[in-house]
Amino acid sequence: MPCSIVVGGAFGDEGKGKIISHIALKENPSIAVRGGVGPNAGHTVVKDGKTLKLRMLPCAVVNQRTRLMIGAGVLVDPQVLVKEIAETGSQNRVTVDVNCAIIEQRHIEADRAGYLKEKIGTTGTGTGPANSDRVLRFGKLACEEGLLSDYIGDVSLQVNASLDRKEFVLLEGTQGTMLSLYHGVYPFVTSKDVSASAVCSDVGIGPKRVDQVIVVFKSYLTRVGSGPLVNELDPAETVRRGWQEYGSVTGRLRRAAPFDYELARRSITLNSGTQIALTKLDTLFPGCAGVRDYTKLPREASEFVANVETELGRPVVYIGTGNEAEDVIDRT
Ligand code: IMP
Ligand code: MG
Repeated sequence: MPCSIVVGGAFGDEGKGKIISHIALKENPSIAVRGGVGPNAGHTVVKDGKTLKLRMLPCAVVNQRTRLMIGAGVLVDPQVLVKEIAETGSQNRVTVDVNCAIIEQRHIEADRAGYLKEKIGTTGTGTGPANSDRVLRFGKLACEEGLLSDYIGDVSLQVNASLDRKEFVLLEGTQGTMLSLYHGVYPFVTSKDVSASAVCSDVGIGPKRVDQVIVVFKSYLTRVGSGPLVNELDPAETVRRGWQEYGSVTGRLRRAAPFDYELARRSITLNSGTQIALTKLDTLFPGCAGVRDYTKLPREASEFVANVETELGRPVVYIGTGNEAEDVIDRT
């Protein structure tokens, strides 16, 4: 599979980090590239009992052989990125596209006040105001940011060259399709499109380059910030079911609801999804915890998976059953 995209199917926090890290360890991508908005995303990767919370680097950082890139469409917070590079010791394999736009302190301040904070419930990481400046064309670019000088390069050129050599390239989306500026429930969305097509554009590859689009769904829905959530549970019921989660960037309690087939179908369509990854099956069915063999799933769990496949018309190829990158049933 020379080029795969992993995108979130719902409101972010689907567990993309876990699925991406599994694919990265198993398939050895030459390059992994981050598309998406920027450091408003928090991807959690657990490897050998150690938890990494990544906001800028690709989750494929867990594979030492993979080169790590950030596509031109992505907003970079230089402090956050430099800290992650230091923490992961990945200095020698990171490239930031010369055209990435930079998040400055004034963007963060603007994102933590007034309308954005109170009405939209943004992550307060400066991404909306920074994208706004970018559109107005007075944003600062990565090539003008001293902290990043060791990492600047032409990501699109390198990714396309790698694909020409038939190497495996993994593109990582952020947020979720229902937070797309175009296809989500405006205005309760993030500051750009986040579908698979947007990830291509972020990185600088054309749509014909893509072989697989893996859409990640959690076994139930969560959402942080404002906006509609069909069949939302009240906080007490969320806790009773063990579905309570706290935002990895914001620390906020996430709102929760049962799996929504209609929403998921729309997401498959918007992304032209070819495969599905289903995460946190062990939260829905505790008997699944740590299972790595499909035939060992409790019957009600495998019935749920089969129902997702029937309803969405796509194979469920990865199933998350625990926190570790290896806690995955892999049916590829
Ligand atoms: P912003 O992207 O910070 O502008 O926030 C806009 C909306 O998207 C808010 O509802 C946020 O909670 C939500 N959001 C942005 N990024 C993520 C994410 O990575 N996970 C979950 N929700 C997110
Ligand atoms: Mg997250």
